[in-house]
Amino acid sequence: MLVDLRPTDRLRQGNGAVVQSVLGSILHAVGDESLDLEKLRIVCDWVQYKNSFRDPVELRAIVNGSASERLEIGVDLRRAASGKHDVAVEMARALARRSEPDRLYLEPWSRTSASLIWNFNALYWKSLGLWEEVSGRPYEQALPGGESDARNAAGARDTILRLFAIWDGLAERRALPDQLHVLEIGIGNGNQARVWLDTFVEIDREQGRDYYRRLHYLMGDYSSHLLDIARVQLRAHDEHISALVLDAMRPSSTLGFLKYKTFFVYISNVYDNLPTDEIARIDGHLFQVESRAFLANESAEAIAPTVGATVHELSDLIHRLLRLGPELLADSEPKRFADAHAAVRFWAAVWDALGLEERYVALPPLDEYEFTSGINGEVLRPLMEANGDVRMHVSNGAAASFVDTLPLLHPHGMLECHDIFVTNLEGYASGFRGPGKYEGSVVNWVNGNVLTALGGRRGFDVSFKKFAFRAGSNITTMTAEVRE
Ligand SMILES: C[S@@+](CC[C@H](N)C(=O)[O-])C[C@H]1O[C@@H](n2cnc3c(N)ncnc32)[C@H](O)[C@@H]1O
Repeated sequence: MLVDLRPTDRLRQGNGAVVQSVLGSILHAVGDESLDLEKLRIVCDWVQYKNSFRDPVELRAIVNGSASERLEIGVDLRRAASGKHDVAVEMARALARRSEPDRLYLEPWSRTSASLIWNFNALYWKSLGLWEEVSGRPYEQALPGGESDARNAAGARDTILRLFAIWDGLAERRALPDQLHVLEIGIGNGNQARVWLDTFVEIDREQGRDYYRRLHYLMGDYSSHLLDIARVQLRAHDEHISALVLDAMRPSSTLGFLKYKTFFVYISNVYDNLPTDEIARIDGHLFQVESRAFLANESAEAIAPTVGATVHELSDLIHRLLRLGPELLADSEPKRFADAHAAVRFWAAVWDALGLEERYVALPPLDEYEFTSGINGEVLRPLMEANGDVRMHVSNGAAASFVDTLPLLHPHGMLECHDIFVTNLEGYASGFRGPGKYEGSVVNWVNGNVLTALGGRRGFDVSFKKFAFRAGSNITTMTAEVRE
């Protein structure tokens, strides 16, 4: 039996006793069962997110095609330590589920990047206005620290000064184009863009360069609702901005005209919001984490009558919500939803209760694993081989976005990204890296090693440093520039 305790820092903070009690409960619970302890893994995480897709105790089958399936028991130590959950009871319930399922599954097993949690995520950004009206909470309040580091003026100043230095150098050599293009992907409410542009104007005045006159700030997002809000925020810079609906994972298909022309690409708190798979190495063998979204029967039974539905009708209603959005769903089902707000309340209740069941399935050879469109899993090989057993995100969505953005950069341009990165694979052994829920969105830490490898193959240097402008921030600044 293997016991993997991941939250090493937390265990030093006086939480050791919880491990003893959790292991005691598990051993007691499995004692009566036909579980083969030799084939058992117990993995304890500290799920720091107030809301996540996990129950305090989860069972994960390790399916490798042989009859003797192994089993992983996953425990959330944070909730175990809170005293609000009895691990022995949760454990017994998880074991009983194997013969008597007590969950309403909303989709078949699939790689996690294909799960419907991402449809919920997209719905949140596209219908954010309605969600905020019902919840009464602007999304920024839900970010760690209650604000986005993207709004930090000192950070913006630092970057703009670097950009000015690049432009000064090119101007000296008469190689500076007339139009100076800057692109932000995933703009939120436009607050960051406003801080950035205001700071730009300030520095341009201080330095007397007249770069603002030549500046074009393009904002891309898949939420036209957010683009509209940002446009209003940026009225003062009207002449210098354009807003474009685009998919952050395929920016080139909309922005081909910017190829080799963009001096600065900024992307903050977006990579952590893009679909990702997880893969794992267990006893030297590679597995894909597969997921399927569910509602516990008791949640389904509580939610269904609030919209005059049976539990059997619930899955169809949820899929229609994801396809149509709350307004059209309310229009098409006036008996169930008095108005769009009622549909949002239904959405929020489902989201709150939504869980992800997981299992490990043998991964095909890495060169057959479709990492992102047109790139196979070979890029992961050094990461999977250099370390022992590991479970990590592969950040497929972030990788797709990154490699499709690099060709837009001017040879002297740079891409800057603020996000939560794991830059050292030990980070996966020492903490829970998602998925978590922030309001209606999904968050996963981003595998920085994957981006370094992909950038390197394309002739870019990728570097990471802690965000220097707010104490205690988890945010890392990633920069990609053409290798000298
Ligand atoms: C967490 S917010 C970050 C907003 C802002 N950059 C900040 O740091 O405060 C994520 C943003 O990315 C956008 N987004 C998420 N996935 C996207 C996708 N696939 N394509 C385009 N935009 C996306 C959302 O609409 C939202 O504006």
